[in-house]
Amino acid sequence: LHIIHISAEMAPVAKVGGLGDVLTGLSRSFQKKGHLVEAILPKYDCMDYSRIANLKELDMELHSSFDGKIYENKVWTGIVEGLPVYFIEPLHPEKFFWRGQFYSTEPDDFRRFTYFCRAALEFLLQSGKRPDIIHSHDWQTAVVAPLYWDIYVPLGLDSARLAFTCHNFQYQGVQDPAAITACGLSARDLMRPDRMQDNSAHNRINLLKGGIVFSNVVTTVSPTYAQEVLLPEGGKGLQGTLGVHSKKFFGILNGIDEEVWDPATDVLIDHQYSADNIDGKFINKQKLRERLGMASQGDDEKRPLVACVTRLVPQKGVHLIRHSIYRTLEKGGQFILLGSSPFPDIQREFEDIARQFENHPQIRLVLKYDEALSHAIYAAADIFVIPSIFEPCGLTQMISMRYGTIPVVRRTGGLADSVFDVDDQRHPEEQKNGFVFDDANEGSLSWGLDRALDYYTQRPEWWQDLVKRAMQMDLSWDASADQYLDLYEQVLSKVKV
Ligand code: ADP
Ligand code: GLC
Repeated sequence: LHIIHISAEMAPVAKVGGLGDVLTGLSRSFQKKGHLVEAILPKYDCMDYSRIANLKELDMELHSSFDGKIYENKVWTGIVEGLPVYFIEPLHPEKFFWRGQFYSTEPDDFRRFTYFCRAALEFLLQSGKRPDIIHSHDWQTAVVAPLYWDIYVPLGLDSARLAFTCHNFQYQGVQDPAAITACGLSARDLMRPDRMQDNSAHNRINLLKGGIVFSNVVTTVSPTYAQEVLLPEGGKGLQGTLGVHSKKFFGILNGIDEEVWDPATDVLIDHQYSADNIDGKFINKQKLRERLGMASQGDDEKRPLVACVTRLVPQKGVHLIRHSIYRTLEKGGQFILLGSSPFPDIQREFEDIARQFENHPQIRLVLKYDEALSHAIYAAADIFVIPSIFEPCGLTQMISMRYGTIPVVRRTGGLADSVFDVDDQRHPEEQKNGFVFDDANEGSLSWGLDRALDYYTQRPEWWQDLVKRAMQMDLSWDASADQYLDLYEQVLSKVKV
């Protein structure tokens, strides 16, 4: 198959969170199975250009329409992790992707990304590419679906069927309907309850809803989250729309790219190791403790190291993350938090905690985005906490397991589909790989975290077996990529939406 992703993120060049990882990991899995996979991204100024091979400008004049005018774009091509990628650079006076950050405010992003989607489809039309599947992701590229049917099929770009993955129903791209006309769509046509009218604010237009209504197949990133979003709390207003379109809506669990996340070959960690020889994990722990100025000698050597690598946003249960720092300290462990927040008040709150523990031997808070440090933490830690309020899939629990770091998670979304409690007799022994708690409160989290810390200190040999088992789990994209391919084949065999 010829599959083209249109996306706002792609790891490692343009990554804010898991969407970037998914785009690259899933695409590489398709590629290994013999499919032609390409991606179209905005050409951001803040990308990691050192990770793009053979970047060059294409010899084509791409003109695309916006606000009723025609604008010129440059198109660049390069290779990211072995995948061909096209980067669109609008020569628009608003310098849409030249702002030093991937995302900005929602009204501004609505404008930038609807521009990008229109230009991306124009690129397909003009370059003569005729993919079988156009796959877009999240609200930023959801408008591809209505644009495709309304404007591009009549122009002859009609080879494809459309797949849409929603990685998070919290962000929907909801604006005044006039905003949609800039990219050439008719607000009057689309402002209907069965099209893109927002289900709660009836005078607003909802891009995510458009992705659901107008795509041939819609997925989200775990089976449990696919159930949760059918109810108001999870669907955030779109539960009714998903109910209507339930026949084309599926939950497929994410995987991780086992080549990128491999402690046996990872060059970003101090000492490589594998399930056959986990002693190297302890060396990483000692090195990281020294690097961050934490206690590492004598009795301190034996302390369990608890970690969390996360965006600090309400979804992740920030008050519970805070609680886990204090609880770990009370229980005699060490804690490292790597995270940053787009919310100034949350960022400030954690800066205060960081200052409180500035020279503390057992606690470190590193409040920034740092890819290399994240690898060192996955390799060094013993326990990883993810107390999310909701979690569409979550990748950090899978990355942790791959590095033999045992997750403590709340039972929600993809966490419930990938972490199975060691004390839960409903699961076969070989599946048990972590600690799961139910409620989004401090008591419930403490119950999960305390058990992990107690097992670690009291049953070292049992713990080592658990570490090995977690490291050997199949967390690859292989099976999930097959599920996507099945869905692609199914929609290709049908005639219309
Ligand atoms: P989300 O996409 O909701 O942030 P996921 O668990 O799906 O959550 O993916 C998070 C990804 O971002 C993981 O690869 C994780 O390692 C990475 N990440 C999150 N915060 C940081 C940070 N501060 N520094 C480096 N990597 C981070
Ligand atoms: C979103 C979700 C996260 C998921 C990721 C990749 O960012 O918050 O749970 O793992 O997308 O699908």
